[in-house]
Amino acid sequence: MERNIKLTITENGQKNEVRTYHGEYMNLMILLKEVQLLEDFGECGGVGRCATCIVKVSGIQGNSNVKERNEPTTLSKLGYFEKDIRLSCQLFITQELNNAEIEILS
Ligand code: FES
Repeated sequence: MERNIKLTITENGQKNEVRTYHGEYMNLMILLKEVQLLEDFGECGGVGRCATCIVKVSGIQGNSNVKERNEPTTLSKLGYFEKDIRLSCQLFITQELNNAEIEILS
């Protein structure tokens, strides 16, 4: 598999460039947890309720910009209404994320 999806991840001001492909990780939360070795991240396992997987994104395209299912409700309860604040468990790793910048906030 060609690693044709490039992500730039920022955690505590440190940038890390990661290359992956569609299907390697179930979603962005799982990728971040494994690649960045995050603890206490993604506690609900990805159903969109715990809000321990919040990221700030830029450069994502298409339908990946649409918040669906539990995501808008969970984020708005915490006062997050901005388009670029997301639950990483609700983002699938597709070409729409290629060249995106992801900042870990949780
Ligand atoms: S893992 Fe719980 S909201 Fe994303």
